Amino acid sequence: MTTHGPVLLRVIVRLLWLLWTAELLRAENFTIGYITGSARRPGNNEYNRPGLAISGAITLAVNEINANPDLLPNDYLNFAVAETYGESAESLKQTALFWQSNAAVIIGPQETCVCEATLAGSFGIPMVSYYCPETVVSNKYQYPTFARTRPPDYQISKSLAALLKYFNWTTVAVLSSDASDFSNVATTIIKILKASGIDVATHRTWQGTYYHDFTENPFVKLVEETLMDARIYVVIGKQTEYIGLMTYMEERQLLNGDYFVVGVHFDQYNPEDPEEYIKGVLQTHVDTRSRRAFQSYIGIISSAPVYPAFQHFSAKVDSYLESPPFSHPNPFKTKGLDVPRKINQGAAHLYDAVYLYARAVHQAEANHDDPLNGHVLINYMKEQTYLSAMGYMTSTDENADAKGNYTLIAFSRLPGAEARYGLTPVGTFEHMEPGEGETIGLPVRYRLRIYDRIPWRGRGPPAAVPACGFRGVSCPNNNIVGQISV
Ligand SMILES: *[C@@H]1O[C@H](CO)[C@@H](O)[C@H](O)[C@H]1NC(C)=O
Ligand SMILES: *[C@@H]1O[C@H](CO)[C@@H](O)[C@H](O)[C@H]1NC(C)=O
Ligand SMILES: *[C@@H]1O[C@H](CO)[C@@H](O)[C@H](O)[C@H]1NC(C)=O
Repeated sequence: MTTHGPVLLRVIVRLLWLLWTAELLRAENFTIGYITGSARRPGNNEYNRPGLAISGAITLAVNEINANPDLLPNDYLNFAVAETYGESAESLKQTALFWQSNAAVIIGPQETCVCEATLAGSFGIPMVSYYCPETVVSNKYQYPTFARTRPPDYQISKSLAALLKYFNWTTVAVLSSDASDFSNVATTIIKILKASGIDVATHRTWQGTYYHDFTENPFVKLVEETLMDARIYVVIGKQTEYIGLMTYMEERQLLNGDYFVVGVHFDQYNPEDPEEYIKGVLQTHVDTRSRRAFQSYIGIISSAPVYPAFQHFSAKVDSYLESPPFSHPNPFKTKGLDVPRKINQGAAHLYDAVYLYARAVHQAEANHDDPLNGHVLINYMKEQTYLSAMGYMTSTDENADAKGNYTLIAFSRLPGAEARYGLTPVGTFEHMEPGEGETIGLPVRYRLRIYDRIPWRGRGPPAAVPACGFRGVSCPNNNIVGQISV
């Protein structure tokens, strides 16, 4: 009799164990609802169909994850494709249809995102965007199930603050374009700068787009109005406009080591054409004035993809684009040319979105959380660090927004026998170790690491504030004002 007790107990324990592991091992089949813009309505000859250059990235990511024994080993991912035709109403409708068909997540949409993110939040379905640039959706109270892998433009402000701190440029003038794309970003940037202890002495805007040498240069007036109040300018707009500011400051003889300009760029750095950043839109070469001016300039820009890793990635995306369900032929190949199509950074964001989702599901399951609940799953997409398809490390912040990876670019002579000049990478921004940033007082802790030469006009970085202060206030006996205003 006495031996039966333990045996029975062992059988029960064994049964419970089997039940528990069966629950764990139950293979789930997760359907990803992919919203893309790859087709035109009859009669529409304009929609640029961004999906044609990126969609293969979802097949690539899903196939890799399904074959990976370390990521979701017991589960299976599949995806369904919905088309927006570039229309916001269609995008919204497809979001609802995916909810109705019980998709586990929505990857997208392609263009609009605010209403779609609201809908996803009310359905409780996770939505991971590879495109959305809007600022509002960072608010997790209003958009509780929304994550994104394309860094919103304002993310650059944290690296900018780190840069200004690094050179002790704690007083700056901000000049920004009043175009809607830039004015919101400028507001956020100024907020972050102030929170980082940087004094924005003045903020001025220019109207419309400036075409260098074709329209009236708005920077003449802006510089004249502000040069008494700052030495360091931060400029926020289209990079092709910055040449107007630089050439005027050079003409005005401000760029002799006293004044300096920090340009904020919203495109990704293009290593193939470093000259484009300092050349007028229609100029064939860099003129002397611009060559002198840009020695007093540094820019912050989204890091270029890492080669050759990104090339291999692009080749795979290109080939998956030709396979079902997309079957988008390579337009060059159909013309008999053996040229790969241009795969853009959107493909990397799409690929990263699938991985961000898959890793979140993996972690949620490990913690016995419900991966189908977007309100729960979002927590596994916040503050994640990962290797992007771009080839560099990046991470998401407390709002599940990608933080991006930024590069400092400065004037240099390009390699080669011919004397050519452009802006090339000289530094990168890294995360500080926990605790490291406390004394610097940054809300966001980035550290600038400079690895190449910055060609200072003077002895080094100019001082943010002249020795006697602005308008000579610190040395009342010297008439500094008179000396500066020529
Ligand atoms: C997963 O679901 C999709 C769509 O419902 C289906 O086509 C596919 O066969 C399923 N795969 C597995 C392995 O269950
Ligand atoms: C930084 O600049 C401030 C004035 O703008 C100056 O008082 C301070 O000494 C500078 N610090 C360093 C380390 O250069
Ligand atoms: C940006 O990428 C570089 C290269 O991978 C890395 O060293 C750096 O830490 C990254 N910065 C951030 C902020 O993730």
